[in-house]
Amino acid sequence: MASVTFDKATRLYPGGTKPAVDALELHVEDGEFLVLVGPSGCGKSTSLRMLAGLEDVNGGAIRIGDRDVTHLPPKDRDIAMVFQNYALYPHMTVADNMGFALKIAGVNKAEIRSKVEEAAKILDLTDYLDRKPKALSGGQRQRVAMGRAIVREPQVFLMDEPLSNLDAKLRVSTRTQIASLQRRLGITTVYVTHDQVEALTMGDRVAVLKDGLLQQVDSPRTMYDRPANLFVAGFIGSPAMNLVEVPLVDGGVKFGGSIINISRDELAGAGTDKTVTVGIRPEHFEIVPAGGIEGVAVTVNVVEELGADGFVYGTTKIGGDDKDIVVRVHGRQIPERGETIHVVPIGHETHVFSTSTGARLSA
Ligand SMILES: Nc1ncnc2c1ncn2[C@@H]1O[C@H](COP(=O)(O)OP(=O)(O)O)[C@@H](O)[C@H]1O
Ligand SMILES: [Mg+2]
Repeated sequence: MASVTFDKATRLYPGGTKPAVDALELHVEDGEFLVLVGPSGCGKSTSLRMLAGLEDVNGGAIRIGDRDVTHLPPKDRDIAMVFQNYALYPHMTVADNMGFALKIAGVNKAEIRSKVEEAAKILDLTDYLDRKPKALSGGQRQRVAMGRAIVREPQVFLMDEPLSNLDAKLRVSTRTQIASLQRRLGITTVYVTHDQVEALTMGDRVAVLKDGLLQQVDSPRTMYDRPANLFVAGFIGSPAMNLVEVPLVDGGVKFGGSIINISRDELAGAGTDKTVTVGIRPEHFEIVPAGGIEGVAVTVNVVEELGADGFVYGTTKIGGDDKDIVVRVHGRQIPERGETIHVVPIGHETHVFSTSTGARLSA
């Protein structure tokens, strides 16, 4: 096993003007499950492919443990990769598919068989070893692809959106299986997804990329509770955090009738800006009675009922402008469309960002 280090690793595609991955600095601990997440085109696959040796590195270095692998061919890196299109060989049995890489490497038959059987046991595929891929469900095929990676006992697993081809329900159960399998095997894993829920639920830590630039690396909890900038704040969490530009007043910022306190030090980060951007997650509003001085009136446009709770999509007036806002409400207190509710942000759960730079200002 080994750690993985991206040391200012950069990839500029031929003919490109801007790097697809720009001076990526990231250290993945030995045995860690790190998820790279970000919108389509942000450089996730390119990062993974640089680590795999499938893409040139134009600047910086990549290390596995203390080996500099920057210019090593893929086969010398001791990694195994699982892709979205896991392309099993249709004419081979599950066992042969899983053992194929070992066969190519010249490992003897008995050893291949024992490794394949061991992997099949872990992946719950023992009863399917003699089947062809077409006689398997999508989830089982996915596990065969995992099995192919496991039998090689690599130092590092690389996975690029391995669940994207599965239907929604299977995706949820398979992500739990992959995460628990990784913990059991303890193999350092870099996992790529565009899905922030997948990132939060699977990763020991999550790295958010945007336009080839690393935005934040943190545990899922910290990422959710303390997003480092406006981009991460808007990207992590569903429905997304409400982000509202509000004027600065003495001692803090004003949101409707409530003052959100921020310290002088934190405010200094706003520079000469006249406003800051306040972030409030949908679950961090309190519903208050009409007529109170603090509440912000929200006109209910759409209600999404989820049973235990619901989301109200409404409109409110902030500084004279209409602003869309999402509020989580209790499942037994769902308002009607067209109704007006009054909400107050829960003070210590609010976030403040610089409007001009997007940087987090609140502690
Ligand atoms: N082979 C390539 N040649 C030129 N540009 C590429 C190539 N592969 C990807 N890109 C560009 O690099 C950027 C990052 O792509 P990619 O790493 O595939 O993003 P992601 O996996 O996050 O969706 C995108 O702008 C994409 O168009
Ligand atoms: Mg990709």
